[in-house]
Amino acid sequence: TAASAASPASARGKGVEFIEEMRVAAMRLHTREQARDGKKEAPMEPPVAKWQPTVEGYLRFLVDSKLVFDTLDDIVHRATVPWYAEFQNTGLERSEPLQKDLAWFSLQGYAIPEPSAPGITYASYLEELSDKDPQAFLCHFYNVHFAHTAGGRIIGEKVAEKIHIHRELEFYQWEGDLSLLQQNVRGKLNQVASGWSRAEKDTCLDEMEKAFASSIDLRRHMFP
Ligand code: HEM
Repeated sequence: TAASAASPASARGKGVEFIEEMRVAAMRLHTREQARDGKKEAPMEPPVAKWQPTVEGYLRFLVDSKLVFDTLDDIVHRATVPWYAEFQNTGLERSEPLQKDLAWFSLQGYAIPEPSAPGITYASYLEELSDKDPQAFLCHFYNVHFAHTAGGRIIGEKVAEKIHIHRELEFYQWEGDLSLLQQNVRGKLNQVASGWSRAEKDTCLDEMEKAFASSIDLRRHMFP
């Protein structure tokens, strides 16, 4: 709601579903140009119109993204924290589609790079966080999957146009009704967070900016 969007951190929460608090925290880090509900003055990354991507840079982004999605899948399947298992097989997984996209690029004659520093650094940070700070970890799980369904698709479209890739990548296609898959994950986030203290919820929300910065780092090969 508009009221919670404007409220300070100390007034967080009262009667609002936790997923709504997460969305409000995420929208605070967007500009109005990026998303209608955006609140931030200056963007955390340059607008896509100013990027000068190359196929090579895009491939680095795809490879690093795959490493990050693989890592999240591994973590929820290992489920060292029991409720991680709630987030297995959500339908939002992107590892297989990315594998297919990379195979397609390879067939076109492009060399598929090894993962690079932003992806490797983020993947090991996620591993570490999943062990020692489950609430903060879940913030990343949410952002990696949901950012990709929103801004990620916009970025994908514009980059494809700039580098003349006339094929809709599997990365941007989901099996089944995407909004239902998202609703299902939102429900699980609410359900899991309903067992958290206010301090634990705040730990999750306070990780939002780091989740944004890590996501932006994966795209650095595509902008100056
Ligand atoms: C939602 C754009 C970067 C996380 C959205 C929405 C748009 C958007 C259009 C949908 C807003 C709505 O439903 O009203 C963009 C653009 C970006 C960007 C253009 C950069 C060029 C990011 C980053 C993150 C992020 C870096 C975090 C890693 C989210 C989340 C949502 C969202 C969590 C809510 C999704 C949902 O609940 O359906 N973004 N975004 N975005 N974005 Fe971004």
